Amino acid sequence: MSLHENFGSGNSDANPDLKPNDMVMTPRHIAKQMIGFYADNHLAHPHDISPDATILDPCRGDGAFYNQYPDDRTRDWCEITEGRDFFDWPYKVDWIITNPPYSIFPQFLEKCFEVADNVALLIPLAKLVSSLKRINMVMDYGGIVSMRVIGASKCGFPFGFPAAAIHMKRGYDGNTLIEMWPDEEE
Ligand SMILES: C[S@@+](CC[C@H](N)C(=O)[O-])C[C@H]1O[C@@H](n2cnc3c(N)ncnc32)[C@H](O)[C@@H]1O
Repeated sequence: MSLHENFGSGNSDANPDLKPNDMVMTPRHIAKQMIGFYADNHLAHPHDISPDATILDPCRGDGAFYNQYPDDRTRDWCEITEGRDFFDWPYKVDWIITNPPYSIFPQFLEKCFEVADNVALLIPLAKLVSSLKRINMVMDYGGIVSMRVIGASKCGFPFGFPAAAIHMKRGYDGNTLIEMWPDEEE
């Protein structure tokens, strides 16, 4: 079920100025494992995607995340190359789970915080922790529920820095789980 069927023009002639790293698609098995961590209910844990949650992929790409969101949750998507610019998305959602475009990461993160109560992003760790301004932005939003670290090459990223699935939650002031993405899941 889609959230807002009339969102976006669906104009496939859209010609965004994207950088090569903005177009790196996530391997499907990695997206599946990441979603599974939030969807395999650890009952009433802050990780959980609740049964009535709405989920948005703000930059669907080929759909590695969007197509694997739990079937029974309401979902929607944006994708600039298909004429749906996330910066025009006007609605609130419960979750965003995706791998975002890196060249515009700060603006993208800000927009994620505006529309979603849970933001789970697969990103190079440095994108978040190398800037005090960005760390403050996360703390103003809430906090980090979990950070699961993985080698960038394992996610198919064309660079060597460590990456992580980072789940940020509005108003969260609990503990942060930091762990390596378990080998058997890779
Ligand atoms: C790193 S790729 C990841 C794609 C997909 N989420 C995945 O994990 O496979 C980032 C995607 O963001 C899209 N994108 C960039 N700017 C966007 C915007 N303003 N609104 C929606 N999508 C955007 C790009 O076209 C690209 O498909």
